[in-house]
Amino acid sequence: MIKNICCIGAGYVGGPTMAVIAEKCPSINVTLVDSNHDKISAWNGDLNNLPVYEPGLKKIIKKVRGKNLFFSNEIDKNINKSEMIFIAVNTPTKTSGEGSGMAADLKYVIACAKQIAKASKSDKIVVEKSTLPVRTAEKIKDILCKEGKKGINFEILSNPEFLAEGTAIKDLYNSDRVLIGSDNSPSGLNALRKLIEVYSNWIPISKILTTNVWSAELAKLASNAMLAQRISSINSLSALCDMTGANTLELSRAIGMDKRIGPHFLIPSPGFGGSCFQKDILNLVYLCKFYGLDEIAEYWHQVVKINDYQKERFAKKIINHFGGDLKGKVIKVLGWAFKANTNDSRESPSIYITEKLFNAGAYIQIYDPMVPIENIKADINQYWNFDINTNDKRISFSSNNKINEDIDAVAIITEWDEFKYVDYKSTKVFDGRNILKKPFYSI
Ligand code: UDX
Ligand code: ADP
Repeated sequence: MIKNICCIGAGYVGGPTMAVIAEKCPSINVTLVDSNHDKISAWNGDLNNLPVYEPGLKKIIKKVRGKNLFFSNEIDKNINKSEMIFIAVNTPTKTSGEGSGMAADLKYVIACAKQIAKASKSDKIVVEKSTLPVRTAEKIKDILCKEGKKGINFEILSNPEFLAEGTAIKDLYNSDRVLIGSDNSPSGLNALRKLIEVYSNWIPISKILTTNVWSAELAKLASNAMLAQRISSINSLSALCDMTGANTLELSRAIGMDKRIGPHFLIPSPGFGGSCFQKDILNLVYLCKFYGLDEIAEYWHQVVKINDYQKERFAKKIINHFGGDLKGKVIKVLGWAFKANTNDSRESPSIYITEKLFNAGAYIQIYDPMVPIENIKADINQYWNFDINTNDKRISFSSNNKINEDIDAVAIITEWDEFKYVDYKSTKVFDGRNILKKPFYSI
């Protein structure tokens, strides 16, 4: 039986996942470690200012923090005292070197493997939680065997996370499946059994799916690619709806009622965002190209290209309405998060759409109920190639969703519930999420 678990990476994946493991397995001590000291302080601090906002998370943290869930900067010590170590660090798209702009950057995962090798004085089960390219487990094992102390056995399991932000706790409580890839050797199967024991505290055994390590790694990329593909499909049809007078939401409902297709992930939007979809598809594209599967690479690449097209299309819709120029116009942007119920704005369509509106000359007022203003500023600095600190008067931040007289148009980019109940008066609303009954325009 596992007594101590350590998870490296206290972010959107590690935080909620370990909170639920701690809650459901009271006999296991779970410690989340992170190299970011501020993040660990925040996890140990005020419950209203946790680094990750997820419905239901605060309640669990309140219940288990200090009992069997701990947050610490002491990485080596916690690695050493745990029998099982989860790696839940970020794997962004590479920005330089081979595969730049496509392949996943494994530098954080590799740093973890090296740290585990250095700190471990007894056998360890290492669980990949981060989304990784196929065959990364092999690389991790290689580092652990080469750099770890002699006589210590390391087993690697791939246990990709399928939670979606905004519903993370619900998804963890009631997972459609828990996927675990392992080696077929006796020690691999023993490690597998131990992880199954952890999950079987709350997940029915029929939902725990075991595969080889490579299938588990690829299944994560493939699931995200298939989900994103559905969104790009409906978004591509939304462009045709615009031309023909068909209604995208009606179309989506009609398609989704076919049991063979199903209703999920067919909601039109101004483009999908989040830290996973684009990154994972580009990773898949890179993998296909690496193996000489150029046609397959191109097929999946289209999903991302349509997503870029959709973001551009929504921005153009607003700009073209005002004759191709937004000089002097005030646009209120409602929503900076990449979806509702999260404070995460990674790859949010808002970043790109707002930039287009700004570049067309608009005065921009941004409001999001959860994303801190300093994060919005950081996104602008990073992605717009623009220094917000020079304090351009054309960008301002609102503390509420109120629509004042001076606003020429509203762009709804995130589907926060409160946006349904705003008094828009006669302002032109461009509804990127189809949440209003009769906006000026819906996607
Ligand atoms: C996704 C996967 O769903 C999850 O299984 C995986 O573990 C991580 O990546 P996440 O990115 O957190 O999760 O959220 P998700 O609900 O998938 O939404 C991703 C993006 O797609 C959001 O921008 C969302 O607004 C958009 N979306 C989703 C649509 O535009 N239409 C839809 O019908 C559904
Ligand atoms: P995700 O959405 O995948 O959880 P996040 O960026 O929210 O991504 O979280 C990943 C966390 O991993 C960050 O808090 C980061 O500081 C942490 N991290 C990255 N590399 C290391 C490392 N080598 N050691 C410890 N923590 C790390």
